[in-house]
Order: sequence, then structure tokens, then C-alpha cells
Amino acid sequence: MTPPITSVGLLDPDQVKSVLGAAVLAPSTHNTQPWRFRCTPAGLELHADPDRALPVADADRRELLLSCGAALFNLRTAIHALGAHPATTLLPRRDDPTLLAVVRPFSARKPDQRLVRLADAIPRRHTNRTPFDAAVIPDAVVAELRHAAEVEQAWLPRLDPTQLEQLRELVHKGHQAQVSDPAFLAEWRHWTARSRDSRDGVPEYAAGAMPSADGGWILRDFGSSRRGRVDDSEPVVVVIGSFDDRKADRIRAGQAMQRVLLTATAAGFDASFISQPVEVPAARAELRTLLGGGLWPQIVLRLGHGAPVPWTPRRSLDDVLLEPDRLSA
Ligand SMILES: Cc1cc2nc3c(=O)[nH]c(=O)nc-3n(C[C@H](O)[C@H](O)[C@H](O)COP(=O)(O)O)c2cc1C
Repeated sequence: MTPPITSVGLLDPDQVKSVLGAAVLAPSTHNTQPWRFRCTPAGLELHADPDRALPVADADRRELLLSCGAALFNLRTAIHALGAHPATTLLPRRDDPTLLAVVRPFSARKPDQRLVRLADAIPRRHTNRTPFDAAVIPDAVVAELRHAAEVEQAWLPRLDPTQLEQLRELVHKGHQAQVSDPAFLAEWRHWTARSRDSRDGVPEYAAGAMPSADGGWILRDFGSSRRGRVDDSEPVVVVIGSFDDRKADRIRAGQAMQRVLLTATAAGFDASFISQPVEVPAARAELRTLLGGGLWPQIVLRLGHGAPVPWTPRRSLDDVLLEPDRLSA
């Protein structure tokens, strides 16, 4: 048996558990939690879990990489908040395609208070599918969100009213394509109709209003009995794009997405995802053109103020650790 770990870089086993606990609070498509972690004395490895891929909604595993990127951002930020530097290498080994990143916590330093603020927001961030009040996001916060994307090498373009209207149409198009595809519906049912004590998938209590086909920003239906479109006055809708669309770009886009989400949470805003136009390939191609052709759209978010929502469950650390015995100290 491989010996138990007494430290990972600067972190002791309790600190390792706490930063991994923060990592798994990341959002993931259908709450699949498609990640695994391995602890070694030198660093924390983040692996994709292909058994948790979504072959229909996410055929090219782009969103799986975004979800893992979000977990990576939480991990880095939690390490930072403990006063260590999370030296991160993406895709360190060509011969191991599931190994997405290695994070080595080293050289103690005074934590950057901006990152401590984001670390504090990790447990408070939840996908909020309730209707949002008329949202006016102050320019200073919009600038912060844009900066959050850019620091992580992504882009949050400003959309004019005509582009927003076209995006809304693409959401409807994508939604119709998905709900008329029996394979999509079967996969979605698998991840939503879970037992009450399930630690993955989207529980019914996390649903918003049922989507209807007319107008409005359609949200994905997670089985709520509340009917009607999500009648937000006019939510703020943003797109996060990347300059390329390779594996590493998608992991970076996931980190950018999570930095934007935590920045919004820290500023007191709620958010949810509108992924239909990036999940349906034809709609994504149209959205790319709509953004001017230079950016790969990665995620669409709706921001505002909603009603409080409960948290969605996560698997235990033992379930996501490769070699869990090594961390039993
Ligand atoms: C890449 C990605 C795409 C997502 N797309 C949608 C979506 O289209 N509609 C939706 O309601 N939730 C979407 N989600 C949110 C997940 O369902 C949510 O993160 C998961 O259920 C865990 O809940 P939490 O975010 O409240 O922790 C998406 C999440 C990720 C990371």
C-alpha cells in the first residue's frame, strides 16, 4: 500500500481536505461532478472523470472541461486564501489525457485580500433559477466581472440590445432542438429524476419555473411544478468567450467562468446558466458569428437578484479521491 500523506507541499492533511472541499463546490453540468483528485506529497492532481461525461448534451466534453476548470479555480483560490501560492500546470502529461492539472502549494505569502473575498464566496454561490428582479448591475461591478474573465485569459464582451435579442432567439432555438431530441431527454432524466438522498444530479427543489415557448429567457426545465416562463424584468445576460477552443482553452474558460461567478456572488448578485446556445453546435456557431467571429462562446450567464435557494448536494471526498486512504491522517 502507498504510505499515507503527511503533507502536500505546504499543506497538512486537514488543509488538503479543506481545499478539496472547496474544489467540489464548483458548478457542473447537470451536477455530474466530473472530477477526481489525487494527492501526492508534491501536489494535488485534478483528473477528468470520463464516466461522468454527458455524451448527448456535451458530446465533445467541452462542458466537462469547463466544470473541471471551475473546480480548479476553487482549489487555487482556497489554497491562496490559506496563504500558499498554488503553482498550477495545465495538462502536464501527454500520456495521461484525464490528468487536467497539477497544483503545487508552496512558498507561504500574505493572502491577497481580493482572492480571500472570492474564497469566502465559494460556499455561498449557488445556481439560482428563480425569477430575477429588475437588475441594474453597477458599472463598477460589470468592470469587475470583465476583469475577472480577463485575468483568467477569457473575455466577457459587451452585447448591444440587438445582439441580446438575437441571443434570446438562439436560446429558444437551442432549447427546441434539445427538448425534441429523445436522447437528450433520456440523459437529462437520468441526471434529474434522482432519489431524495442522491449526492449528484439536479434535485427538483433546485428548479426554477418551467420553461414555456413564448418570449423571455428560457431556463432549463429541472422538473419544477411551477409553470410559465421565467418572467424576469430584464436580467443581465453575459457571454464568456475564449480566443481558442482547445482542451487547455476550455479548462481556462472554466476557471474564468468560476471567477466571474464568485465575483458576482461576492458583489451580492445571483446567477444561473443558459447553456442551450452553447450546447447545440449549430446555435453555438451562430453565436460565434453574432460575437463577431473572433471568440469561441463558452458559457452564457444570467445575473440579477433572485429568491434565496438551497444548496445542491455533492459527493463526499472519499468518492472523488483516487487513493482516498492516503489522506486518512
Ligand atoms: C458548464 C455548465 C453548464 C450549465 N448549464 C446549465 C443550464 O443550462 N441550465 C441550468 O439550469 N443549470 C446549468 N448549470 C448549472 C448546474 O446544473 C449546477 O452547477 C449544478 O446543478 C450544481 O448546482 P450549484 O451550481 O447550485 O452548486 C451548468 C453548469 C455548468 C458548470
